[in-house]
Amino acid sequence: MRLVFLGAPGAGKGTQAKRLEADRGWTVVATGDLLRAAIAQNTPLGQQAHAYIQRGELVPDPIVNQIVAERLATLDSFILDGYPRNLTQAEMLASMLTKPLDAVIYFELGEDALIKRLGGRRVCPQCQAVYHITANPSKAGERCERCGAMLITREDDRPETIRKRFQVFHEQTAPLIEYYQQRGLLRIVDADATPDEVYQRLLSVL
Ligand code: AP5
Repeated sequence: MRLVFLGAPGAGKGTQAKRLEADRGWTVVATGDLLRAAIAQNTPLGQQAHAYIQRGELVPDPIVNQIVAERLATLDSFILDGYPRNLTQAEMLASMLTKPLDAVIYFELGEDALIKRLGGRRVCPQCQAVYHITANPSKAGERCERCGAMLITREDDRPETIRKRFQVFHEQTAPLIEYYQQRGLLRIVDADATPDEVYQRLLSVL
């Protein structure tokens, strides 16, 4: 299965992608996670990407396209989380695929709920597990229940950066909804429910 997960920051793309990967074995390719790993390792790519992520802007297309092309080259089934993010990336994706996409899932959620999700998110800097202080708290309190590391707030989850990310989503990413609708690939999932309920909705559209 070849899927794209689309949605505003905080819509739950990563949460649902990891769950589907665990369930079905389709590899998640999450550009945000790959970029953050490069930043943590201080690679040249990470150094280039860091300032863009801190400002809540998109990292330049050539950098992201290259990361995705390298990953997809070895995968038959995948879930793309956070890519494509604009029309140029969507065209690039179409040109790199040897088999067509099966579906593009748009996780739909209003801005008030998005802000609550991003404001309460805590992440593990070591194993990348994602929690929420009320909706999905770690059983180990302020530590990761999987690996024991201290949980942190993502640096782009500050209110001013969240505002910029929403603006970027509306201006650059939202046009992809119509782009994929016109190609008959779009499936909409109402993401305003518990993670379990959203997962059931996802399975039913698949
Ligand atoms: P990226 O990491 O992709 O961030 P994003 O798209 O803004 O999405 P998020 O990770 O913030 O949210 P999500 O939808 O995955 O939600 P989550 O499941 O975590 O990108 C970060 C940056 O990298 C970009 O700004 C850009 O700079 C760069 N970048 C990445 N891709 C790029 C590209 N293609 N081109 C250029 N630049 C790129 O859930 C959020 C919270 O809600 C969590 O706390 C979770 O526990 C909780 N939650 C999840 N589901 C539910 C639910 N159903 N109910 C209650 N709480 C829930």
